[in-house]
Amino acid sequence: MREGNRVLALLFEHLEQFIQPGVTTAELDKEAEIFIHSYNALPAFKGYRGYPATLCTSVNEEVIHGIPGPHPLKEGDIVSVDVGTLFDGFYSDSARTFAVGTVSQKAQRLMDVTKSALYEGINHAVAGNRLHDISAAIQHVVETAGFSVVREFVGHGIGRALHEDPQIPNFGRKGTGPILQEGMTIAIEPMVNEGTWKVHIRNDGWTAVTADGSLSAHFEHSIAITGNGPVILSAL
Ligand code: MF3
Ligand code: CO
Repeated sequence: MREGNRVLALLFEHLEQFIQPGVTTAELDKEAEIFIHSYNALPAFKGYRGYPATLCTSVNEEVIHGIPGPHPLKEGDIVSVDVGTLFDGFYSDSARTFAVGTVSQKAQRLMDVTKSALYEGINHAVAGNRLHDISAAIQHVVETAGFSVVREFVGHGIGRALHEDPQIPNFGRKGTGPILQEGMTIAIEPMVNEGTWKVHIRNDGWTAVTADGSLSAHFEHSIAITGNGPVILSAL
């Protein structure tokens, strides 16, 4: 899992230079697919339940599962890039929201808060804690900042399958849920909206968008719970 996740961290570094006004999300997808194959890994999402691409690219009010296409990114957009690999029988999964050129202060704050919420969640992913300690920590960061956490989509266990038990909601009550165990590998992934937490799905059957059209951001890491605390697998 370390190796497959490392490819994702390298991929994000690689993609960053292409995320500029004018690039299309389809071009980013192509670049990502070639990159992943060059590490002898496979894109985990392509073909998953019929999903057609390597990346999910979700722009502005798109929350997750945006399908790459011919639409060029423009200055001031934010784009959430979510990607997974299959390497040597194990899955990896990670997401980041990028600024396209210069973005508004509120867009920047939304991204900053979502990333902090992810790291605060990770800090609570400690053996002996309860699962919803992670959830509550994320929710607290987000709601204190005046934003909302998406309810319909959640984090998950990950390993020999992309999505394993347990589900990891980004909201919940501290001190509840299963006890976290050493050796668990999980994907923590807050999706944070500027306005309402409600989302709906576009007619393409995939793209989740905020119900009120407000911006949304998404950060995700695959982590391992170890005797030395949480280890982020999808970082260098
Ligand atoms: N990235 C999603 C997750 O974090 C899974 C994407 S599934 C796909 O769990 F079908 F859209 F690829
Ligand atoms: Co995930």
